[in-house]
Amino acid sequence: MENNWMELDQQYILPTYGRMPVVVDKAEGMYITDVQGKTYLDLFSGLAVNILGHCHDELNQEMVEQSQRFSHISNFFYNQPAIRLAEKIVKNTFDGKIFFTNSGAESTEAGVKYIHKYGVDQGLKGIVVFKNSFHGRTLGALQLTRMASIQQDFPTVDFPVYELEDENIQELEKMIIDHKPSALLFEPISGSGGIKVISKEFMEKAAELCHANGVLYCVDEIQTGMGRTGKLFAYQHTNVKPDILLFAKGVGGGLPLGGMLVREGISHYFKPGDHGTTFAPSPISASLGRRTLEILEDGLLTEVATKEAYLLNKIEGIRKQFPEFIGEIRGKGMMLGIEVLKNHTVLRNQFMEKNILVNVTNGNILRLLPSLIIEEKHIDEFANAFMEILRQW
Ligand SMILES: Cc1ncc(COP(=O)(O)O)c(C=O)c1O
Repeated sequence: MENNWMELDQQYILPTYGRMPVVVDKAEGMYITDVQGKTYLDLFSGLAVNILGHCHDELNQEMVEQSQRFSHISNFFYNQPAIRLAEKIVKNTFDGKIFFTNSGAESTEAGVKYIHKYGVDQGLKGIVVFKNSFHGRTLGALQLTRMASIQQDFPTVDFPVYELEDENIQELEKMIIDHKPSALLFEPISGSGGIKVISKEFMEKAAELCHANGVLYCVDEIQTGMGRTGKLFAYQHTNVKPDILLFAKGVGGGLPLGGMLVREGISHYFKPGDHGTTFAPSPISASLGRRTLEILEDGLLTEVATKEAYLLNKIEGIRKQFPEFIGEIRGKGMMLGIEVLKNHTVLRNQFMEKNILVNVTNGNILRLLPSLIIEEKHIDEFANAFMEILRQW
């Protein structure tokens, strides 16, 4: 029976998403095919989740193998895939301990509770975040998400939040002195907030300031993590390490998984019973995450910078031809934002007509989050389509 999936979706699913008219049938590598047999180049990879593209052979194999061993156990038992993944993440970042979650928002929630425990112990309270930040949509995380359209008038959780103008180190210093917050939390590159890159200088000065005042220096790498910026985590482009690292999205190799890594020295604040979850970490997600890390280590991670240079060169070329339509080009690695000065409301559909799936965020930022397996031919396909669209404007 041929179903009308779009009507059924409207009938049975709450309308919280502005969906594109694509009913996915299957997906492979860089491409998604819909039920009508139309194939699209996917340039946002499940919103930064499918680091290795769709249906990666080795991940599929890993998924089958782990599901035949066990697919879920409870946190009452030792979970080998989780232990192996935790060890791998720690060895590739900094000494510390991990709490695993199922999603980005849950990683932020774990962070809020952890920061609270630390603050109570240290006589500090509240969290400094950036204006226009995005840290998730559950209530604790929502308090830290400073976008009016998302925060709306939902109930608030009772802890102080201080909003920092991007890159304003003096303001941060004043906030630390005036309010004695427990932590600073920020995205090294804002994802939903329009792909704004926080400078290395700011990050290093902020870390110094935080450490001098006992304030936890925390990075939300839920979107920037897992090699997206050319390093495993974006903080690794700087000379400072965070006290708390939040991750999710790509970390489960395409399946739900997230977590919080707390550095050694302050990793004693959660005791049995302080936090928990039924599902996380799924042994299958953890196995896929470990395999993804191995594939990144085998060379894919080092290819990101070359791919970035090729893509940026193409976009710069387009801007030269159409300076009236293209503004700033921002981002790092396979997390790029292109400021579009006209027609941004129809841009997504215009790309769709050319069989390319892109995301537009923060009003007029064309956000590219392709899988790291992207090749030059895919970049050419995107660039040629973009040129054709702009020529018609
Ligand atoms: C930086 C950042 N933090 C938190 C989240 C929330 O993650 P999730 O949607 O998995 O709850 C996102 C999701 O887009 C994100 O980009």
